[in-house]
Amino acid sequence: MYRSHNCGELNASHINQEVTLAGWVQKTRNKGFLIWTDLRDRYGVTQLIFDEARTQKDVFELAETLGREFVIQVKGTVIERESKNPNMATGDIEILVKELTILNAAQVPPFTIEDETDGGEDIRMKYRYLDIRRNPVKNSLLFRHKVAMEVRNYLSAQGFIEVETPVLIKSTPEGARDFIVPSRMNEGQFYALPQSPQTFKQLLMVGGMDKYFQIVKCFRDEDLRADRQPEFTQIDCEMAFVEQEDIMQAFEGLASHLLKELKGVETGAFPRVTYDEAMRKYGNDKPDIRFGMEFGELNEVAQHKDFGVFNSSELVVGIAVPGGAAYTRKEIDALIDWVKRPQVGASGMVYVKCEEGGTYKSSVDKFYDQEDLKKWAEITGANAGDLILVLSGDAFKTRTRLSALRMELATRLDLRKPDEFAPLWVVDFPLLEWDEDSERFHAMHHPFTSPKPEDIPLLETNPGKVRANAYDLVLNGNEIGGGSIRIHDKDVQALMFKHLGFTDEEAKAQFGFLMDAFQYGAPPHGGLAFGFDRLVAILGGQETIRDFIAFPKNNSGRDVMIDAPSVINNAQLEELHIKLK
Ligand code: AMO
Repeated sequence: MYRSHNCGELNASHINQEVTLAGWVQKTRNKGFLIWTDLRDRYGVTQLIFDEARTQKDVFELAETLGREFVIQVKGTVIERESKNPNMATGDIEILVKELTILNAAQVPPFTIEDETDGGEDIRMKYRYLDIRRNPVKNSLLFRHKVAMEVRNYLSAQGFIEVETPVLIKSTPEGARDFIVPSRMNEGQFYALPQSPQTFKQLLMVGGMDKYFQIVKCFRDEDLRADRQPEFTQIDCEMAFVEQEDIMQAFEGLASHLLKELKGVETGAFPRVTYDEAMRKYGNDKPDIRFGMEFGELNEVAQHKDFGVFNSSELVVGIAVPGGAAYTRKEIDALIDWVKRPQVGASGMVYVKCEEGGTYKSSVDKFYDQEDLKKWAEITGANAGDLILVLSGDAFKTRTRLSALRMELATRLDLRKPDEFAPLWVVDFPLLEWDEDSERFHAMHHPFTSPKPEDIPLLETNPGKVRANAYDLVLNGNEIGGGSIRIHDKDVQALMFKHLGFTDEEAKAQFGFLMDAFQYGAPPHGGLAFGFDRLVAILGGQETIRDFIAFPKNNSGRDVMIDAPSVINNAQLEELHIKLK
């Protein structure tokens, strides 16, 4: 038996008991005649004491050789500590060691295994197994497990069953590039790793499975960001005989349950906005509604004066920054520079200070009088003491830019509180979006998403205006889930492929299996997938998903610990029929 207890459980009630513990040496302090060693495992830290007067000489001498991260086993007696540590679960006791076994010596770790470490991101990724010993990473993984258990228990109790779908598949279009796996047995042919189990879950519905879920790895070869990894996990779900409302109810139930169980937060019914409303009010289809700063459209009150920039703009739109009237000229100039950075792309910004006493001071005083500016304040909801910031230009781009500014200001003003949770549904997404590069329409969600039946005629006349039965679940400004009602009719699916620019042959080659299945009794169905890593990170009060993944990839898609991707040898290449140039 390696241990009778773990390092987190002993307290005053165990005093005088003989115990055996095992773990890692967190640190050791040698006072010459007394040695204190903190012993760590997943469960906590227990203080060991080696006392020259009470510990056998050979044990004491061995204790003198202990270094950080040595793996040891000790036997000893639980005794009361002289100076207690109320901040530690085991802070009332220590172990007077009688026997010490070094199970494995360790080299000095390349960074300190402490909550606040001296190790930078790169080194911690290279030695991720050491990083995992640190509380912040360990706790994130424990939390992830807890969320997964809650999800499984909840969905199972609701009658969902978990079904595994294959990982070596044929390409599923979800908008990103596929990771490709060459086939040894089928020369010149390739599998793709799933971007999601989308088509399989639909086939499970045709198979009569009714309520499916899977906590599943998905793979997307796309540019990485804090909330994106090339391999990530979804809580993938599908239901048969449902309408959009049924799905939203079912998964709002799951999200509310998680918020309540894991965060103690009761949210009530989640608000809903249409995509158009979200874009108009927040310039963003995943608005953070923990704070206000809603957009005010100023075309009516700001155009047709002498200010040419606004007159020639499709949209003039502003937000009120709480307390911003106190900003200095320098601070406002810095904000103007911020929106002019290439990442944001504005060409300039107009501001209005709403001063105490109801007067306004703006950068466009030449063109607008106090009455005009008062209207701006009313529309943007600005009060005395606030600052109105206004952008103008092409409607979509201007909204996107103002949204970037809104989020930046909210971060600076500390309005994005990690312990506040504001979920909302965004509904009525457009079915198609125009892609400038390929000059054709793409499915905004995926090609299996059903158009709203009443909008189907618009497919021929105004495809950009067709709305989808698609919805996203947004939490604190992050898209944590998305789904749709699917097309279950072969002819509508064929029409959709046609509008996406597939020839009949291409559609048959790529999706013949699905179209075939639709001929054998496909029930109406729909579903949704949560981004599990994102959900866990946000519930954990963060937005970087890497911290909640045991072995994540870096921003270049590399696993720097195992050094992947890597070259393979010629024999392997030959077997796979691959010739490198
Ligand atoms: P979608 O593409 O919207 O839908 O993905 C669902 C959710 O997965 C998360 N997500 C990611 N998380 C981390 N890294 C990534 N690279 C990444 N990409 C997506 C997001 C997103 O909301 N098959 C459909 C679902 C459906 O229609 O049922 C799908 O995959 O949180």
